[in-house]
Amino acid sequence: MPRLGVNIDHVATLRQARGGREPDPVWAAVLAELGGADGITVHLREDRRHIQDRDLRLLRETVGTRLNMELSVEPEVVAIALAARPDQVTFVPERREEVTTEGGLDVLGHHDRVSEAVARCRDAGLEVSLFIDPDPRQVEVSARLGSAAVELHTGRYAGAVHAADRDRELSALARAGAAAVDAGMALHAGHGLNYQNVAAVARIARMAELNIGHSIVARAVLVGLERAVREMKACIDEAQVGRFV
Ligand code: PXP
Repeated sequence: MPRLGVNIDHVATLRQARGGREPDPVWAAVLAELGGADGITVHLREDRRHIQDRDLRLLRETVGTRLNMELSVEPEVVAIALAARPDQVTFVPERREEVTTEGGLDVLGHHDRVSEAVARCRDAGLEVSLFIDPDPRQVEVSARLGSAAVELHTGRYAGAVHAADRDRELSALARAGAAAVDAGMALHAGHGLNYQNVAAVARIARMAELNIGHSIVARAVLVGLERAVREMKACIDEAQVGRFV
Protein backbone atom coordinates (compact mmCIF):
# COMPACT_ATOMS: atom_id res chain seq x y z
CA MET A 1 0.00 0.00 0.00
CA PRO A 2 1.40 3.45 -0.81
CA ARG A 3 2.40 5.71 2.08
CA LEU A 4 0.40 8.91 2.49
CA GLY A 5 2.53 12.00 2.87
CA VAL A 6 0.35 14.88 4.04
CA ASN A 7 1.47 18.24 2.68
CA ILE A 8 0.74 20.92 5.30
CA ASP A 9 1.94 23.98 3.36
CA HIS A 10 -1.60 25.38 3.18
CA VAL A 11 -1.87 25.45 6.96
CA ALA A 12 1.15 27.75 6.96
CA THR A 13 -0.38 29.79 4.12
CA LEU A 14 -3.36 30.53 6.36
CA ARG A 15 -1.09 31.53 9.24
CA GLN A 16 0.97 33.82 7.01
CA ALA A 17 -2.22 35.55 5.84
CA ARG A 18 -2.35 37.24 9.29
CA GLY A 19 1.32 37.01 10.14
CA GLY A 20 0.46 35.55 13.54
CA ARG A 21 0.91 32.16 15.16
CA GLU A 22 -2.19 30.22 14.15
CA PRO A 23 -2.86 27.81 12.66
CA ASP A 24 0.52 26.29 13.48
CA PRO A 25 1.69 23.73 10.90
CA VAL A 26 3.53 21.91 13.67
CA TRP A 27 0.18 21.22 15.40
CA ALA A 28 -1.27 20.21 12.04
CA ALA A 29 1.52 17.69 11.58
CA VAL A 30 0.73 16.08 14.94
CA LEU A 31 -2.97 15.81 14.02
CA ALA A 32 -2.15 14.42 10.57
CA GLU A 33 -0.01 11.75 12.19
CA LEU A 34 -2.80 10.94 14.65
CA GLY A 35 -5.06 10.53 11.62
CA GLY A 36 -2.71 7.96 10.15
CA ALA A 37 -0.40 9.98 7.90
CA ASP A 38 2.73 8.02 7.04
CA GLY A 39 4.72 11.17 6.53
CA ILE A 40 4.63 14.96 6.60
CA THR A 41 5.62 16.97 3.55
CA VAL A 42 6.60 20.64 3.52
CA HIS A 43 7.99 22.90 0.84
CA LEU A 44 10.48 25.49 2.06
CA ARG A 45 10.10 27.98 -0.77
CA GLU A 46 12.79 30.52 -1.45
CA ASP A 47 10.28 33.34 -0.89
CA ARG A 48 9.09 31.70 2.39
CA ARG A 49 5.49 32.35 1.41
CA HIS A 50 4.20 29.61 3.72
CA ILE A 51 6.58 27.25 5.55
CA GLN A 52 9.25 29.10 7.58
CA ASP A 53 12.68 27.95 8.74
CA ARG A 54 11.29 27.73 12.28
CA ASP A 55 8.62 25.26 11.08
CA LEU A 56 11.19 23.02 9.48
CA ARG A 57 13.30 23.05 12.64
CA LEU A 58 10.39 22.18 14.92
CA LEU A 59 8.98 19.58 12.50
CA ARG A 60 12.34 17.86 12.42
CA GLU A 61 12.12 17.55 16.20
CA THR A 62 8.46 16.49 16.39
CA VAL A 63 7.55 14.46 13.29
CA GLY A 64 7.61 10.81 14.29
CA THR A 65 6.86 9.35 10.86
CA ARG A 66 8.83 10.63 7.88
CA LEU A 67 9.65 14.24 7.13
CA ASN A 68 9.79 14.96 3.40
CA MET A 69 11.18 18.37 2.49
CA GLU A 70 10.44 19.79 -0.95
CA LEU A 71 12.98 22.29 -2.17
CA SER A 72 14.55 23.86 -5.22
CA VAL A 73 18.06 22.98 -6.37
CA GLU A 74 19.40 26.39 -5.24
CA PRO A 75 22.60 25.77 -3.22
CA GLU A 76 21.44 27.95 -0.26
CA VAL A 77 18.25 25.93 0.20
CA VAL A 78 20.15 22.67 -0.22
CA ALA A 79 22.43 23.82 2.62
CA ILE A 80 19.35 24.30 4.83
CA ALA A 81 18.21 20.76 4.01
CA LEU A 82 21.62 19.36 4.85
CA ALA A 83 21.48 21.06 8.25
CA ALA A 84 17.83 20.10 8.96
CA ARG A 85 18.28 16.47 7.91
CA PRO A 86 14.76 15.52 6.80
CA ASP A 87 14.21 11.83 6.05
CA GLN A 88 13.73 12.67 2.38
CA VAL A 89 14.33 15.61 0.08
CA THR A 90 12.19 16.07 -3.02
CA PHE A 91 13.57 18.47 -5.60
CA VAL A 92 10.90 20.57 -7.30
CA PRO A 93 11.03 23.44 -9.78
CA GLU A 94 10.33 26.85 -8.32
CA ARG A 95 9.23 30.08 -9.95
CA ARG A 96 8.20 32.98 -7.77
CA GLU A 97 5.19 33.94 -9.86
CA GLU A 98 3.58 30.49 -9.79
CA VAL A 99 0.63 29.76 -7.50
CA THR A 100 1.78 26.20 -6.86
CA THR A 101 4.34 23.84 -8.38
CA GLU A 102 3.04 23.89 -11.92
CA GLY A 103 5.20 21.34 -13.72
CA GLY A 104 7.83 18.75 -13.00
CA LEU A 105 11.50 19.53 -12.61
CA ASP A 106 13.21 19.41 -16.01
CA VAL A 107 16.14 17.18 -15.06
CA LEU A 108 17.34 17.17 -18.67
CA GLY A 109 17.31 20.91 -19.14
CA HIS A 110 18.85 21.64 -15.73
CA HIS A 111 21.02 18.54 -15.65
CA ASP A 112 24.13 20.00 -14.05
CA ARG A 113 22.38 21.96 -11.30
CA VAL A 114 20.15 18.99 -10.44
CA SER A 115 23.11 16.63 -10.53
CA GLU A 116 25.04 18.77 -8.04
CA ALA A 117 22.08 19.10 -5.68
CA VAL A 118 21.36 15.35 -5.78
CA ALA A 119 25.02 14.51 -5.15
CA ARG A 120 25.26 16.87 -2.16
CA CYS A 121 22.20 15.33 -0.51
CA ARG A 122 23.11 11.74 -1.33
CA ASP A 123 26.63 12.24 0.00
CA ALA A 124 25.09 13.55 3.21
CA GLY A 125 22.97 10.37 3.50
CA LEU A 126 19.58 11.92 2.64
CA GLU A 127 17.06 10.00 0.54
CA VAL A 128 16.53 11.88 -2.72
CA SER A 129 13.40 12.08 -4.84
CA LEU A 130 12.91 14.11 -8.03
CA PHE A 131 9.50 15.57 -8.88
CA ILE A 132 9.20 15.05 -12.64
CA ASP A 133 6.59 14.89 -15.36
CA PRO A 134 5.61 11.33 -16.38
CA ASP A 135 7.99 11.41 -19.32
CA PRO A 136 10.31 8.41 -20.03
CA ARG A 137 13.29 10.69 -20.77
CA GLN A 138 12.91 12.46 -17.43
CA VAL A 139 12.73 9.06 -15.69
CA GLU A 140 15.85 7.84 -17.48
CA VAL A 141 17.90 10.90 -16.54
CA SER A 142 16.65 10.75 -12.93
CA ALA A 143 17.95 7.20 -12.67
CA ARG A 144 21.29 8.20 -14.16
CA LEU A 145 21.57 11.03 -11.64
CA GLY A 146 21.35 8.40 -8.89
CA SER A 147 18.04 9.49 -7.41
CA ALA A 148 16.51 6.96 -5.00
CA ALA A 149 12.98 7.88 -6.10
CA VAL A 150 10.91 9.88 -8.53
CA GLU A 151 7.63 11.61 -7.71
CA LEU A 152 5.48 11.70 -10.83
CA HIS A 153 3.53 14.92 -11.33
CA THR A 154 -0.15 13.96 -11.43
CA GLY A 155 -1.38 17.46 -12.27
CA ARG A 156 -2.33 16.73 -15.88
CA TYR A 157 -4.19 13.58 -14.84
CA ALA A 158 -5.99 15.43 -12.04
CA GLY A 159 -6.84 18.35 -14.31
CA ALA A 160 -8.23 16.27 -17.18
CA VAL A 161 -11.88 17.06 -17.77
CA HIS A 162 -12.75 14.33 -20.27
CA ALA A 163 -12.53 10.63 -19.47
CA ALA A 164 -10.40 9.92 -22.56
CA ASP A 165 -7.83 12.54 -21.51
CA ARG A 166 -7.81 11.23 -17.96
CA ASP A 167 -7.22 7.66 -19.20
CA ARG A 168 -4.39 8.82 -21.44
CA GLU A 169 -2.72 10.68 -18.56
CA LEU A 170 -3.18 7.68 -16.27
CA SER A 171 -1.51 5.42 -18.84
CA ALA A 172 1.39 7.88 -19.08
CA LEU A 173 1.75 7.73 -15.28
CA ALA A 174 1.65 3.92 -15.29
CA ARG A 175 4.25 3.70 -18.09
CA ALA A 176 6.61 6.19 -16.50
CA GLY A 177 6.08 4.47 -13.14
CA ALA A 178 7.02 1.07 -14.58
CA ALA A 179 10.14 2.59 -16.16
CA ALA A 180 11.12 4.14 -12.80
CA VAL A 181 10.68 0.83 -10.96
CA ASP A 182 12.60 -1.05 -13.70
CA ALA A 183 15.43 1.46 -13.27
CA GLY A 184 15.55 0.62 -9.55
CA MET A 185 13.89 3.76 -8.19
CA ALA A 186 11.04 4.05 -5.70
CA LEU A 187 7.82 5.36 -7.22
CA HIS A 188 5.99 8.35 -5.73
CA ALA A 189 3.25 10.59 -7.12
CA GLY A 190 1.41 13.74 -6.24
CA HIS A 191 -0.25 17.03 -7.13
CA GLY A 192 -3.97 17.62 -7.51
CA LEU A 193 -4.95 14.27 -6.02
CA ASN A 194 -8.28 14.32 -4.25
CA TYR A 195 -10.95 12.06 -2.78
CA GLN A 196 -12.36 11.28 -6.23
CA ASN A 197 -9.24 10.69 -8.30
CA VAL A 198 -6.73 9.14 -5.89
CA ALA A 199 -7.78 5.48 -6.23
CA ALA A 200 -6.57 4.96 -9.81
CA VAL A 201 -3.14 6.41 -8.96
CA ALA A 202 -2.91 4.42 -5.71
CA ARG A 203 -3.48 1.26 -7.80
CA ILE A 204 -0.49 1.84 -10.11
CA ALA A 205 1.91 -1.09 -9.64
CA ARG A 206 4.60 -0.53 -6.97
CA MET A 207 3.32 2.93 -6.06
CA ALA A 208 5.18 3.62 -2.82
CA GLU A 209 4.15 7.14 -1.74
CA LEU A 210 1.46 9.70 -2.50
CA ASN A 211 1.89 13.32 -1.41
CA ILE A 212 -1.39 15.15 -0.97
CA GLY A 213 -2.07 18.60 0.42
CA HIS A 214 -4.74 20.84 -1.06
CA SER A 215 -7.68 18.44 -1.02
CA ILE A 216 -7.01 17.31 2.56
CA VAL A 217 -6.63 20.82 3.96
CA ALA A 218 -9.67 22.02 1.97
CA ARG A 219 -11.75 19.18 3.41
CA ALA A 220 -10.43 19.82 6.91
CA VAL A 221 -11.72 23.41 6.74
CA LEU A 222 -15.19 22.22 5.80
CA VAL A 223 -15.52 19.21 8.08
CA GLY A 224 -14.16 21.29 10.98
CA LEU A 225 -16.16 24.49 10.40
CA GLU A 226 -19.39 23.40 12.08
CA ARG A 227 -17.57 22.44 15.28
CA ALA A 228 -15.49 25.60 15.25
CA VAL A 229 -18.62 27.78 14.98
CA ARG A 230 -20.35 25.82 17.75
CA GLU A 231 -17.36 26.36 20.03
CA MET A 232 -17.35 30.12 19.35
CA LYS A 233 -21.10 30.27 20.07
CA ALA A 234 -20.41 28.52 23.39
CA CYS A 235 -17.79 31.14 24.29
CA ILE A 236 -20.30 33.92 23.59
CA ASP A 237 -23.11 32.12 25.46
CA GLU A 238 -20.92 31.54 28.51
CA ALA A 239 -20.01 35.24 28.58
CA GLN A 240 -23.68 36.06 29.15
CA VAL A 241 -23.60 34.54 32.65
CA GLY A 242 -23.21 37.42 35.13
CA ARG A 243 -23.78 40.10 32.51
CA PHE A 244 -25.69 43.11 33.98
CA VAL A 245 -27.64 44.42 30.97
N1 PXP B 1 3.99 16.88 -4.47
C1 PXP B 1 4.71 17.98 -4.79
C2 PXP B 1 6.11 17.79 -5.26
C3 PXP B 1 4.17 19.27 -4.67
O1 PXP B 1 4.91 20.34 -4.98
C4 PXP B 1 2.85 19.41 -4.18
C5 PXP B 1 2.25 20.77 -4.03
O2 PXP B 1 2.94 21.50 -3.10
C6 PXP B 1 2.14 18.25 -3.83
C7 PXP B 1 2.72 17.00 -4.01
C8 PXP B 1 0.76 18.31 -3.27
O3 PXP B 1 -0.13 18.79 -4.22
P1 PXP B 1 -1.61 19.15 -3.79
O4 PXP B 1 -1.51 20.28 -2.79
O5 PXP B 1 -2.26 19.56 -5.07
O6 PXP B 1 -2.20 17.91 -3.18
